[in-house]
Amino acid sequence: FTAELDASDIEKGTYPHYMLKEIDEQPAVMRKIIMEYQDANDNIKLDEDVRSAVQNSDRIYIIACGTSYHAGLVGKQMIEKMAKIPTEVHIASEFSYNMPLLSEKPLFIFISQSGETADSRAVLVHIKKLGHRSLTITNVAGSTLSREADHTLLLHAGPEIAVASTKAYTAQIAVLALLAVDTAKVKGIKLDFNPIQELGIVANAMEALVDQKDIIEKIARDYLSVTRSCFFIGRGIDYYVCQEAALKLKEISYIQAEGFAGGELKHGTIALIEEGTPVIAIATQAHVNGSIRSNVKETVARGAHACIVSMESTSETGDQIVLPEVHEYLTPLVSVVPMQLLAYYAALHRDCDVDKPRNLAKSVTVE
Ligand code: G6P
Repeated sequence: FTAELDASDIEKGTYPHYMLKEIDEQPAVMRKIIMEYQDANDNIKLDEDVRSAVQNSDRIYIIACGTSYHAGLVGKQMIEKMAKIPTEVHIASEFSYNMPLLSEKPLFIFISQSGETADSRAVLVHIKKLGHRSLTITNVAGSTLSREADHTLLLHAGPEIAVASTKAYTAQIAVLALLAVDTAKVKGIKLDFNPIQELGIVANAMEALVDQKDIIEKIARDYLSVTRSCFFIGRGIDYYVCQEAALKLKEISYIQAEGFAGGELKHGTIALIEEGTPVIAIATQAHVNGSIRSNVKETVARGAHACIVSMESTSETGDQIVLPEVHEYLTPLVSVVPMQLLAYYAALHRDCDVDKPRNLAKSVTVE
């Protein structure tokens, strides 16, 4: 436990489930991260040794599992776009079988809510033997991955109790955004992006969304209460959120779900669409709005029951969920919120144990 923890953090209070409480906590977590990572002059506060570890690397290798891996995919985009450091994201359990050719000055970033995941730790032990630098981004100070890596950045999300990870995912993306911006600044790259301000806008947008539970609950009932399968489709950064959305749904409602790249559907997977198959599309990116919408039409022509989640600037009449506008780099922080709530309500409608899903553990400490 961190020193900041007070008893209310580990109690459900009036909430029926930890997962719902943790979804609701996300705006507060964003504000907490801003506080923790902001100095008196509104600049990003980071340890100099973390800063130089990132500056001195010529390639970043992100290693993670599950939801943390999905946050890493979003982080890669931000690091490459803003800090201009080539970044790869690897599933920890596969890393040793498909070890990539390493660059001269690699930095390994381990993303792990618990800081205890054995698959990630195995990679850390291996790369340390090779003499490479490491940074752990975790919610748990003093955890194994934090102790064993050279550097740590904390998520400050407060304890996450529900097995399905929610607030840790958004906290991971927020911290990765700050790291990307800070690196860009130190490198002298000019950015038209004030992360402190943009994360504040995200917090407000999240708040608006968690207040719309009745709408999302109804969508969960209409689309997900009896189906056997569900597809989430998106392009670009939305595709990464689709992968997380599918994982959430699988974990707690046991619906066979897949997050799929919109353009890849036609190369096989569209064969699975039948009358009534739910297809949930995330369309927050202006540059792919037309193409993802034609993908939706292709599925509707084959009987899909489509639901479109867009952002104010990309919305069209008839979209089921319209998200408040946030910066295009940070859309996953808000588009994931209705996805978490959809999974939550789908699980309730199907009488599943939301906080303790079958076959799963919060932290997997075996390889
Ligand atoms: C388990 C949990 C997932 C989590 C993954 C990685 O499988 O059930 O929710 O995303 O481990 O956990 P970590 O603590 O490393 O982020």
